[in-house]
Amino acid sequence: MEKIIIEGGRQLNGTVTISGAKNAALPITAASILTGGWHRFHRVPQLRDIETIRKIMSKMGVVFEEQDGVLSINSDNITECEAPYDLVKTMRASILLLGPLLARLGRARISLPGGCAIGARPINLHLKALAAMGVDMTLEHGYINARVDRLKGANVFFDIPTVTGTENIMMAAVKAEGKTVLRNAAKEPEVIDLAVVLRKMGALIEGDGTDTITIRGVKNLGAVQEHVVITDRIEAGTFMVAAAMTGGSIAIEGCRSANMEAVIEKLRAVGAEVKETDSGLHIRGPKTVKSVDIKTMPYPGFPTDLQAQFMALMCVAEGSSIITETIFENRFIHVSELQRMGANIEISGNQAIVRGREYLSAAPVMATDLRASASLVLAGLVALEGRTEVHRIYHLDRGYEAMEEKFMKLGANIRRETA
Ligand code: EPZ
Repeated sequence: MEKIIIEGGRQLNGTVTISGAKNAALPITAASILTGGWHRFHRVPQLRDIETIRKIMSKMGVVFEEQDGVLSINSDNITECEAPYDLVKTMRASILLLGPLLARLGRARISLPGGCAIGARPINLHLKALAAMGVDMTLEHGYINARVDRLKGANVFFDIPTVTGTENIMMAAVKAEGKTVLRNAAKEPEVIDLAVVLRKMGALIEGDGTDTITIRGVKNLGAVQEHVVITDRIEAGTFMVAAAMTGGSIAIEGCRSANMEAVIEKLRAVGAEVKETDSGLHIRGPKTVKSVDIKTMPYPGFPTDLQAQFMALMCVAEGSSIITETIFENRFIHVSELQRMGANIEISGNQAIVRGREYLSAAPVMATDLRASASLVLAGLVALEGRTEVHRIYHLDRGYEAMEEKFMKLGANIRRETA
């Protein structure tokens, strides 16, 4: 097992280049199942989750080649349609294979993802929409067995805007018979990036980025010649929080402020100076961090995937703040670890009241989920009186490409060690 060691107290300055977005690369990789031929994708991040979906798809017969940062994928010969439990349990987003497999082969056997640390994370809305499209599904031994002769277009209303639900049904609908309309659809930039890829394959999709997406089924699709995955707005937000926490000045290359309005607004409210540049954003942290309330919401609201990181910032703010988590029912697991570092946080239902303090104290802590581990690294950057050890950082490696190297380049005293 590996751990990350941090000696906090340093101001971070310099330039960081943001990697491709995990939550765009995952559905886009799954979409390559929809048609044969060689697809070529740039800026696919080197992450555990990408390795996992590649493992699952390779077992199905999909061929992957990587050269000079380009990931080429060929789905000419898909021999299997199963996503096994031992891999799905490590990455719930494997459910994104369901839609493409049904569109391509008319059948799929996917392990139910099961819950995860941050919540039950049901997939009922995915399944309800697929049933409306004519899919027969049975649940046996923890697996969804799905079959359909020909997917039919349907009118789908999502009770809750679900990101992977929207993506799954978009992919199922691109070759369905007739028109599919998704209402109360997710509007995340990663949904738009998937729609761009599907259009490059020849799909007829309109309305992505709004709450109503219309897909008209087509007979054939072709391989994607070239696509550059959008950059990761959650990684960008994580580094912006680091600048705010350490009072540093960081140029964030490659991110787009248009995708980060809610985050930029909150960072300006804590006193950071955020400016757009030709190649991204520049952020200068304040001398003292003001406390600010946040409430996580579906896009374009404040992203739940930055809630833990912003909480670490509020732990060293002046005054108190209220952090409200409205998306997942158990996304405060990082609180007890932050408390071990001296943070003053009280949980009441889906709200955390954070009373800021001068600094945190270094301690051994344990990562429990992807974004919680990022918040512990951030807390370690400002923790004094020793070294912070973040254990179980396999969680971190699921969603951040070489995080400690990027922080080291910005001046942090941080390294990875085998525990
Ligand atoms: C996606 O998860 C992201 N993952 C998550 O990022 C992100 O936190 C989440 O969207 C919300 O933005 C990927 O894109 C791979 P949802 P997803 O379906 O699609 C409920 C990270 O750290 N719901 O939008 O699984 C659900 O319980 C990860 O990168 C149902 O009730 O989330 C939640 O309360 C963590 N039934 C809400 O909807 C369903 O069928 C939003 O979930 C589906 C969802």
